[in-house]
Amino acid sequence: MRELLVIGIGAGDPDQVTIQAVKAMNRADVFFVIGKGDEKQELVDLRTSILAEHMDREYRIVDILDPPRDRTPSDYTGVVDDWHDRRAQVFEEKFAAEDGVGAILVWGDPSLYDSTLRIVERVLARGNVAFDYTVIPGVTSIQALAAQHRIVLNRIGEPLHVTTGRKLRDGLPDGVGTAVVMLDAECSFTHVPDEDAEIWWGAYLGLPDEVLISGKLREVEDEIVRVRAELRERKGWIMDIYLIRR
Ligand SMILES: C[S@@+](CC[C@H](N)C(=O)[O-])C[C@H]1O[C@@H](n2cnc3c(N)ncnc32)[C@H](O)[C@@H]1O
Repeated sequence: MRELLVIGIGAGDPDQVTIQAVKAMNRADVFFVIGKGDEKQELVDLRTSILAEHMDREYRIVDILDPPRDRTPSDYTGVVDDWHDRRAQVFEEKFAAEDGVGAILVWGDPSLYDSTLRIVERVLARGNVAFDYTVIPGVTSIQALAAQHRIVLNRIGEPLHVTTGRKLRDGLPDGVGTAVVMLDAECSFTHVPDEDAEIWWGAYLGLPDEVLISGKLREVEDEIVRVRAELRERKGWIMDIYLIRR
């Protein structure tokens, strides 16, 4: 492979695919599809329909099966590091087998809680294959959340903290007034003790099942926990994100 395009495709709404992304997609000969073999059919279908709608040329799809990862490690950083190394090896083999332009479609934007760029850098650092690569930005789930709730993320002149559910379990860090929380399987907002906190929550943003709930945290937290559990049960998976402010 002589060139790789890492293309952000937006956080769910097919209309969030940018013109720049479409142009890049149409330079690709092959799309690498990364998965664990258990990807949700709806998300696979979304990617397939994006390609079907925007591609004006022949292309191939090459699956890259992710090596499994220990989800409950004691040494989190070490285990993730080892996993990324094993992934880099698998990617390297697939890249080496191609001649032309390759592309990877990334959910949202590649700069936000996504390991594609780290793996590409690792593949290059191993020195066994060489190629140019370009990143095409996409609409993130943070932007989708702000747009759907019609909110400004930051208070005037104030910073914005972006974090994960795992990090929110001890509450918002000192000095942080506003945070966006992603990757939260545990409803960690219930651990935020501030009585005056507000929340803007969204699930399946941009997808047909999108749900939005907002209000005073203490007044809506039970509803979010209940609705989230019901949705997860009904569909078998959930993607949700929220802004929390005190
Ligand atoms: C692995 S991260 C990927 C983020 C992605 N790169 C982005 O730019 O948004 C996955 C997390 O993003 C958030 N997310 C992504 N798409 C979403 C959507 N359509 N609706 C709600 N949350 C979403 C959720 O918090 C989910 O757990």
